Amino acid sequence: EKGGYPDFMLKEIHEQPRVVRDTLAGRMAGGMLTIDELDLSHDELNLIDRIYVIACGTSYHAGLVAKQLIEGWARIPTEVEVASEFRYRNPIITPTTLVVAVSQSGETADTLAAIRDARVRGAKVFGITNVVGSPVARESDGVIYTKANKEIAVASTKSFLGQVVSLTLLAMLLAQSKGKLTTSQIKLLFKELADTAEQIETILSDTAAIDKAALACKDACSSLFIGRGLGAAICAEGALKLKEISYLHAESYPAGEMKHGPIALIDDGFPVVAVATQSPTYEKTISNLQESRARGALIVAIATEGDTEIEKHADYVIYIPKVRDCFSPITASVPLQLFARAIAVARGCDVDQPRNLAKSVTVE
Ligand code: M6R
Repeated sequence: EKGGYPDFMLKEIHEQPRVVRDTLAGRMAGGMLTIDELDLSHDELNLIDRIYVIACGTSYHAGLVAKQLIEGWARIPTEVEVASEFRYRNPIITPTTLVVAVSQSGETADTLAAIRDARVRGAKVFGITNVVGSPVARESDGVIYTKANKEIAVASTKSFLGQVVSLTLLAMLLAQSKGKLTTSQIKLLFKELADTAEQIETILSDTAAIDKAALACKDACSSLFIGRGLGAAICAEGALKLKEISYLHAESYPAGEMKHGPIALIDDGFPVVAVATQSPTYEKTISNLQESRARGALIVAIATEGDTEIEKHADYVIYIPKVRDCFSPITASVPLQLFARAIAVARGCDVDQPRNLAKSVTVE
């Protein structure tokens, strides 16, 4: 049932183009984006003035992407919180607050408790989950199902992609309701979003550069993942993926934070993985690579195809197809999944079933 792949994680990584296509299917009708399951009228959507995205682990990282897209497009203040923090504090919730709960399994104890708490306080709750009929789906006011299908590897990959695509759609929908994006802008964005399926296929068709970089890093004791903007969100997920399946310590930092502490870690051969795709802050990230390299770091850069300049600043460059910055989380997370898996395999780890972890965390 691994479909010829050596492990479920690799099989699931390869399913991601399908996940993108299935998640988008039926969402555009007559030039309008629709998410009927949300069960909120255009007017109700329009009234939303504060959003909390609550989740744990990888799903929290999808939330970090969502914050930037919702604020960027729909201009609605959005906070992302780990559910185990949200539920034990006193968040500001009004009738026009929307809580978006993201959970692959739909049964994470803290996320579920946060949903209940938010509803008692009067918030509308949207669930984003992969499991039909799960507690998150049942207890939310509306639900978007990610179309990942059953995910077996403990490390989330395809469900993360499904979450990011669903949250991207939600951000676009909110922007549409608020009149912040025009019909033609939405149409163009939707097309480019759909194109990411093919771009992921391109990434999956040649992983030689990823495997080479992984071999160079496999014996490290620690590593840093750095990026800016959406790249920083993807780094958080890349670092989690690496530590959970390979037990190689990995930490992520917004690249601009390097000189505020983490750069002290760097000595000869210390791996620094950078998401340095084309974005408004590309040049700034390059400066961070230079600073790190000058101190001996081994640099692995995820970069945009055609960017030869970056080869001067990195030991290993992993090229991915050019996309608009807002869609870079969808494409840039794929090489980071493969990188983590390649290191885990090289270190002899059980990639599908890492020690101490369970697929569903139903106790707090
Ligand atoms: O099922 P959920 O999305 O609520 O699970 C949240 C986390 O437990 C989960 O993402 C965990 O971090 C994974 N092991 C990540 O690969």
